[in-house]
Amino acid sequence: MVAKPKSRCCCCTWLIGIIVLIAVILAVVLTFRHRSNHSGDDQPGSIDKKYADALKIAMQFFDIQKSGKLENNKISWRGDSGLKDGSEASIDLSKGLYDAGDHMKFGFPMAFTATVLSWSILEYGDQMASVNLLDHAKDSLKWTTDFLINAHPSPNVLYIQVGNPETDHKCWDRPETMSRNRTLTKIDTETPGTEVAAETAAAMAAASLVFKESDTKYSSTLLKHAKQLFDFADDNRGSYSVSIPKVQPYYNSTGYGDELLWASSWLYHATEDKTYLDFVSKNGEEFGNFGSPSWFSWDNKLPGTHILLSRLTFFKKELSDSKGLQGYKDTAEAVMCGLIPSSPTATSSRTDGGLIWVSEWNALQHPVSSAFLATLYSDYMLTSGIKELSCDDQSFKSSDLRKFARSQADYMLGKNPEKMSYLVGYGEKYPEFVHHRGASIPADANTGCKDGFKWLNSEEPNPNVAYGALVGGPFLNDTFIDARNNSMQNEPSTYNSALVVGLLSSLVTTSSSIESFI
Ligand SMILES: *[C@@H]1O[C@H](CO)[C@@H](O)[C@H](O)[C@H]1NC(C)=O
Ligand SMILES: *[C@@H]1O[C@H](CO)[C@@H](O)[C@H](O)[C@H]1NC(C)=O
Ligand SMILES: *[C@@H]1O[C@H](CO)[C@@H](O)[C@H](O)[C@H]1NC(C)=O
Ligand SMILES: *[C@@H]1O[C@H](CO)[C@@H](O)[C@H](O)[C@H]1NC(C)=O
Repeated sequence: MVAKPKSRCCCCTWLIGIIVLIAVILAVVLTFRHRSNHSGDDQPGSIDKKYADALKIAMQFFDIQKSGKLENNKISWRGDSGLKDGSEASIDLSKGLYDAGDHMKFGFPMAFTATVLSWSILEYGDQMASVNLLDHAKDSLKWTTDFLINAHPSPNVLYIQVGNPETDHKCWDRPETMSRNRTLTKIDTETPGTEVAAETAAAMAAASLVFKESDTKYSSTLLKHAKQLFDFADDNRGSYSVSIPKVQPYYNSTGYGDELLWASSWLYHATEDKTYLDFVSKNGEEFGNFGSPSWFSWDNKLPGTHILLSRLTFFKKELSDSKGLQGYKDTAEAVMCGLIPSSPTATSSRTDGGLIWVSEWNALQHPVSSAFLATLYSDYMLTSGIKELSCDDQSFKSSDLRKFARSQADYMLGKNPEKMSYLVGYGEKYPEFVHHRGASIPADANTGCKDGFKWLNSEEPNPNVAYGALVGGPFLNDTFIDARNNSMQNEPSTYNSALVVGLLSSLVTTSSSIESFI
């Protein structure tokens, strides 16, 4: 009788032991499965359908913006246009991309578009290829660099604008039917424009890397132009906003030091010629704005330069402790620390919905460009095995940067208070009154410059969907007005598209390490 309770007690202990053991095993198994389903942040993962679908859509906007004699055109409402562009100077400037909802070709943002698209292809070409979009991206890039090559007919001359914005903005017509004179604007030694020449050099140097293997001849042509343009920019220093004041109402430049560093950084990557590295080392103190995080944009290349040069410290052993690169590396870290919401140095420039928000006009450019830089930096850390990013007294992981980048992408794709996708064509609800002439006018409408304004003022949604357009985006209070005359919030631009293509390419796989461009 004594033994029975004892044996029961013994049995009871065993049973409890086994139950606990099973529970522990189950917990471990479930946690592991949960992890591998959801994050995969520590190793390259499978394709994330959401971002792959969004990327497919985003890439189409370049086709919509193409000028010139179209090849393999897949946009039913687009046709040939701008065929005589450049004829005033007997050069062929028919290709290239229209800037936004109008028919201007502005060289400064167009070159920036080409630089960012090149960078995206160099870092994330593998991801683009995994969803069959690499050729599309390279085609869009080449359409732009073909234009840039022709715009540079001699070493110290660069055509930087096709069309007169005052005249252009007095019309509302399809690019296919525009009949006005396409005035050209150029820079030369008498009329310098260091930032435009340098940005164009950056674009061509970066693109030369993209085409290095697939088209050697084209690649070396690009590189030749890039070197000439850098010398032209550096030897004839002056801002185009000063020498050509009429550009100020459109793409006004706040300075050219950032473009010189940016161009030199790209030229170093393209040539490995130490002269370009010496240039960034020597001029960093003057132009690099060390220690002060800023926002990457068509006007400000500094954060991009900080990230691109710190890339060298991650991947080139001989440069990992380079004194000349230290200021860039430190500032890149400061930029990253500002983006992570829980960092002690987090920026307060955010909406309540969590979107980085810096300017009322084209608000989405800054969150998207910041998120693109964050995934790059995150992948540099991951690829080079650097585990920690220190922000004051706290440290963060590459996955914290990636999480930030995803939050911005998700907001843009509809996870926001308005439940609006700002990428046109993606999701259930997206802007239907995009400020875009071609999208707002039926392809068979026989309207010209002036009578076309009835389509701007029409209360019907756009007859053509501008797939892939990333519109300006919300107010600081996370609201948005979907009206065609709301160019502040509802006008897309090609440089936005380059940034969004870069960001989405980086997110196409559940995690990525950099392979294509070390
Ligand atoms: C276009 O330019 C040509 C040559 O400069 C000029 O003769 C013509 O009047 C211009 N047309 C318009 C509509 O401005
Ligand atoms: C353009 O930028 C320059 C330099 O920052 C500034 O002085 C000028 O006022 C700006 N012009 C306009 C129209 O914003
Ligand atoms: C949001 O901000 C815009 C621009 O400042 C303002 O016009 C609008 O009334 C605000 N909406 C709400 C709901 O507060
Ligand atoms: C757009 O049009 C609406 C209705 O006519 C008007 O109330 C609004 O002020 C206009 N907005 C802009 C930015 O012109």
